[in-house]
Amino acid sequence: MKKSDLIIPFKFEDRRPIIINRLLYVPGNYEEHSNFKEKIYFKNNNRLHVEYCSGNGEWIVQKAKKNPNINFIAIEMDFQRARKIWVKMHNENVDNLFIVLGEAKTFTKYYLKNNSIFQIYINFPDPWPKTKHEKNRLIKKEFILEMKRVLIDKCNIIIVTDDKNYSNEIIKNILDAKLKSLYKEPYFLTNLENYGSSYFKSLWVSKGKDIRFHKFEK
Ligand SMILES: C[S@@+](CC[C@H](N)C(=O)[O-])C[C@H]1O[C@@H](n2cnc3c(N)ncnc32)[C@H](O)[C@@H]1O
Repeated sequence: MKKSDLIIPFKFEDRRPIIINRLLYVPGNYEEHSNFKEKIYFKNNNRLHVEYCSGNGEWIVQKAKKNPNINFIAIEMDFQRARKIWVKMHNENVDNLFIVLGEAKTFTKYYLKNNSIFQIYINFPDPWPKTKHEKNRLIKKEFILEMKRVLIDKCNIIIVTDDKNYSNEIIKNILDAKLKSLYKEPYFLTNLENYGSSYFKSLWVSKGKDIRFHKFEK
């Protein structure tokens, strides 16, 4: 499989959801998600884990290969990055992975069922460090409630960030939504053995930045 093999077969004006070779395209500014009847399909009914903000997919591809008895969904809204994961998934025969090219909240709201997900991961969500841009952060009340809805009871959400200010906001927002931190105060660890590597994890570690790992249970 090569990059040029992934073509969304219509112009943006004619956008609609479509599944192409294990990638679901979820269009933005679109009102008719509920009319889409196809389903994300795996070869078996194994447990489902999702990773939001997958970037180039380094972390999720490793994770899927190491855990063939779990099905994974990688959600990434940037076309070039989602396409990179898609190419890697096919070329490396990772058949327990499915890609979503789309925005995290929209995908979750319209395409995931209540109590269907065993584990959620978010690795290095965009921190929007300037105060005037903080409103663009993903991990806010609306999205947290959606994650809570789709997560199975007693299952958990792992969030990793290098941004202290965003970490503090994440902790507050998630505890406010009545999920429980599995790490005691200050509600994060700075190391998690064998967590796996991602582009941003390697980048920040090489620059000597501290990383915070958070784990919350429904
Ligand atoms: C800082 S990068 C981290 C990528 C990867 N997780 C890593 O650790 O290398 C954040 C990624 O999240 C994606 N992203 C940001 N907001 C998103 C959203 N609302 N829905 C889906 N993807 C999003 C961006 O396109 C970008 O690829």
